[in-house]
Amino acid sequence: MKHFKYLMTFAVILLANSAIANTMKPHHQAAGLKCNSCHTTKPFDFVEMDQCITCHTLPERKTDYHGAPDKHDSPHYGPALECENCHHEHEQSENYCNNCHEFDFKVP
Ligand code: HEC
Ligand code: HEC
Ligand code: HEC
Ligand code: HEC
Repeated sequence: MKHFKYLMTFAVILLANSAIANTMKPHHQAAGLKCNSCHTTKPFDFVEMDQCITCHTLPERKTDYHGAPDKHDSPHYGPALECENCHHEHEQSENYCNNCHEFDFKVP
């Protein structure tokens, strides 16, 4: 019985996890990405920044930010801040800089 309970809990966690992970960002969905466009390991693990920049190269990320501080090349972290600090694939993205600042930008 104890065993059974343990298995049930495990199944619920698995279900919850896949429910979250099965959503992809609209921009990636529209671009026709598949799960393994980012997840190159099995089972799926955390996705490294290196994987993002196989498609999004640094020069492409340097857009004109109209005088606002460049989130992709900040005085603190340069261009080295992990994408995942701001861009979440499977949940709402966040503005990492605003842990300390009050910048008015929205992370896609
Ligand atoms: C654009 C890249 C990208 C795509 C496409 C993508 N993922 Fe992810 N996935 C991530 C990133 C980044 C994380 C790390 C956590 C986060 O950002 O939510 C992650 C985390 C996960 C995790 C949790 C892994 C762990 O150990 O923390 C699972 C499971 C997962 N993804 C499944 C999927 C499935 C299933 C698909 C296809 C429907 C998919 N992912 C498509 C980037 C991607
Ligand atoms: C297989 C190629 C590929 C990979 C890997 C990939 N992307 Fe994308 N991504 C695209 C394409 C294609 C688009 C849609 C066209 C565009 O905006 O560049 C896109 C769009 C985006 C956008 C939205 C652009 C906008 O204008 O709103 C963001 C943000 C983004 N990707 C971040 C990431 C992050 C973070 C990762 C790593 C977790 C990642 N991408 C991995 C191909 C990829
Ligand atoms: C500190 C937060 C932050 C981090 C870290 C970050 N981004 Fe962004 N990103 C943004 C914001 C905010 C935008 C929306 C555009 C804007 O407001 O200038 C954006 C836009 C984008 C876009 C859309 C095109 C563009 O340049 O506007 C892509 C693609 C992208 N990011 C990819 C990445 C990748 C790949 C990484 C990791 C190497 C990354 N970003 C790291 C905040 C971040
Ligand atoms: C852990 C807190 C913290 C985070 C996170 C943080 N900052 Fe800062 N930032 C500070 C502090 C404190 C200062 C003021 C001290 C100084 O000027 O050196 C500052 C100053 C700055 C300045 C002015 C510095 C100059 O050289 O003119 C800019 C621009 C800036 N931050 C951008 C960013 C961006 C973009 C991000 C996100 C990628 C970010 N910061 C994330 C704490 C933070």
